[in-house]
Amino acid sequence: MSVLIKGGTVVNAEQSLRADVICDGGLITAVGTDLDAPSGATVIDAGGQYVMPGGIDPHTHMQLPFMGTVASEDFESGTSAGLAGGTTMIIDFVIPGPQQNLMEAYKQWREWAEKSVSDYSFHVAITWWDDSVHDDMGTLVRDHGVNSFKHFMAYKGAIMADDEILVNSFARSLELGAIPTVHAENGELVFRLQKELFEKGITGPEGHPLSRPPECEGEAANRAIRIAEVLKVPVYIVHNSCRQSLEAITRARNEGQRVFGEVLAGHLLVDDSIYRHKDFDVAAAHVMSPPFRSSEHQDALWKGLQSGNLQTTATDHCCFCADQKAAGKDDFRLIPNGTGGVENRMEVLWHHGVNTGKLTMNEFVKVTSTNAAQIFNIYPRKGSVAVGADADIVVWDPEATKTISTKTDHQKVDYNIFEGMEITGCPSHTISQGNVVYANGKLDVERGAGRYIDRPPFAPFYDALQKQAQLAEPVAVKR
Ligand code: URP
Ligand code: ZN
Ligand code: ZN
Repeated sequence: MSVLIKGGTVVNAEQSLRADVICDGGLITAVGTDLDAPSGATVIDAGGQYVMPGGIDPHTHMQLPFMGTVASEDFESGTSAGLAGGTTMIIDFVIPGPQQNLMEAYKQWREWAEKSVSDYSFHVAITWWDDSVHDDMGTLVRDHGVNSFKHFMAYKGAIMADDEILVNSFARSLELGAIPTVHAENGELVFRLQKELFEKGITGPEGHPLSRPPECEGEAANRAIRIAEVLKVPVYIVHNSCRQSLEAITRARNEGQRVFGEVLAGHLLVDDSIYRHKDFDVAAAHVMSPPFRSSEHQDALWKGLQSGNLQTTATDHCCFCADQKAAGKDDFRLIPNGTGGVENRMEVLWHHGVNTGKLTMNEFVKVTSTNAAQIFNIYPRKGSVAVGADADIVVWDPEATKTISTKTDHQKVDYNIFEGMEITGCPSHTISQGNVVYANGKLDVERGAGRYIDRPPFAPFYDALQKQAQLAEPVAVKR
């Protein structure tokens, strides 16, 4: 199928220009003025609209088995919802259980993801350590296109990685040319605070943010960053929710360390008063970790994005319906942690970022696709409207308006954390692998059309870092 997108303004991270775009054979084959439609091409009139790289959500959890249940959104429904919102690729997570063989878990997730309708890739979590984990990390990087490993510093008694695991896995990542990523919360402190609150009689969702204060996040972010500094490996901190973790990142970057930070659309826009909502279902629907924070933190996170100290936006899309959240009716510690948003990330960021002047359109492209593509080493195949890139494109209508609601969205969850939000600016068309998969409110997707995207190990960072590590080796003193 070939497609001509005519009369729009192409917006990339580095520049905007009036140009037509031709997609053929799944790739972008021409970007230029007054292009003629190839015979039989579908023509999209993009007059008055922006033609941007499809979004990359670098943090989702489709059908994740977690906290005694399984996330309600599967790879087919979740990637469909993403396409409806202009997101053409997700990076999800393989999360082996404690002692589970890495390759076995990886194969299991690959099988689950086969029904995806858009492209996808996987970070792999390191939840325990032995020689097999060390070896399997090598196999995953060399033979399976994995270049990032995830570490949960929270969730004690389940998937938490202690310092020994962090040190072993960060060092191994450096050898392999992979980047470690981290969920930064001090799991020991969270565990203790949860227990204390519960014993004091605080059993409802209001206990959730109290048990996970920003200091717990700041401490863990700083610890992961300093471990990475000593080992001379870059590090990526996922879902920064507060000033304290942003400060840890900013400080390290100012010192020349390669540290990257992600922020969730939800953490920029939803505040922690929701946990005191009188209706358990509403409060519980917002239980995710780290929790939503006060406006002081939201302001800091916006500034982090504007200054470039935070580079990517994500959703941590991990959906649980009310009947699943009810597991924690009498004990907030048992409410499955997770919220949705893969469909809404780009539109809420456009509305609250671009329409308010906090972000330029080019910055919007950077934080919704290009930076993720660069950090996870799939640029310029993804994250760019350029000849030779994958034809993953969103045509953006800046005048379109809508009110976000579970009644009209495509996400498979019964609550939307942006419910009722009125926004201006959303996709009119989404193109995935050169096919028009979403047009004027209607999805036209094919189960299984999504491809697993290999992400090669890093060269440029690692050459520099490995050189630094060698230079820093102590020289034996001759006597
Ligand atoms: O609450 C969350 N974020 N659930 C998904 C797992 C994680 O921590 O990312
Ligand atoms: Zn997390
Ligand atoms: Zn997550």
